[in-house]
Amino acid sequence: MQFIIEETYEDVSRAAADIIAEQIQSKPAAVLGLATGSTPIGTYEELVAKFKRGEVSFEDITTFNLDEYAGLDGDHDQSYRWFMNHHLFDNVDIDKVRTHVPSGNSDDPEKMCEDYEKAIEEAGGVDLQLLGLGHNGHIGFNEPCDEFPVATHYVELTRSTIEANSRLFNSIDEVPTAAYTMGIGTIMKAKKVLLLATGEGKAEIVKKAFKGEVTPQVPASILQSHPDCTIILDKEAASQL
Ligand code: F6R
Repeated sequence: MQFIIEETYEDVSRAAADIIAEQIQSKPAAVLGLATGSTPIGTYEELVAKFKRGEVSFEDITTFNLDEYAGLDGDHDQSYRWFMNHHLFDNVDIDKVRTHVPSGNSDDPEKMCEDYEKAIEEAGGVDLQLLGLGHNGHIGFNEPCDEFPVATHYVELTRSTIEANSRLFNSIDEVPTAAYTMGIGTIMKAKKVLLLATGEGKAEIVKKAFKGEVTPQVPASILQSHPDCTIILDKEAASQL
């Protein structure tokens, strides 16, 4: 694991966007694994700025997002499909046909999850997977549990995740209580992983996940054994390392 410690959130976003842009420049038809949440918003803004300056093109890029809330349609403004369209896809030259987000309202969720895994494989696997970090150590929506989940699956969200995500909804009762997420196995198959964490609130879990024991109770800890994982932190998130 390689740590990059930056001064501010904006510096983290710039550093992450530079690494993603390098990936695209070295392989214009790369497969990117993408994340939602507050952390990568600045990275997407930087990537859009790079696109507008003509420094990077998403024309041949394929994307797979980590997760989606169960029960939300892609048109819902809290869905992760909506988030990705709004923050990235609508602002660059990507072909939306090649952007994938698990369906939140499939009639056959089991098949949807299997098909998602197959589609990643058929695309040649993820070249670079972008991740945020949950306060409980989750990556994607792989919540603390007894065994690392392997593939894309349905998951009930923990109370702490529901509470953390309620800031984006009108009330906590509106937060979906379940989601579909890539598994830890899916994430670990990515050729390169780039995890971002910022702010003092993440300091404790950063230390636990990357300096503590590797355990499914702290799902992100598995990244300690990934062969090419870069963690970009601001000073606050790195403060307990
Ligand atoms: C989002 C995702 C989650 C978030 C995590 C951190 O697609 O998979 O694991 O990365 O909950 O969220 P923020 O960035 O809002 O602190």
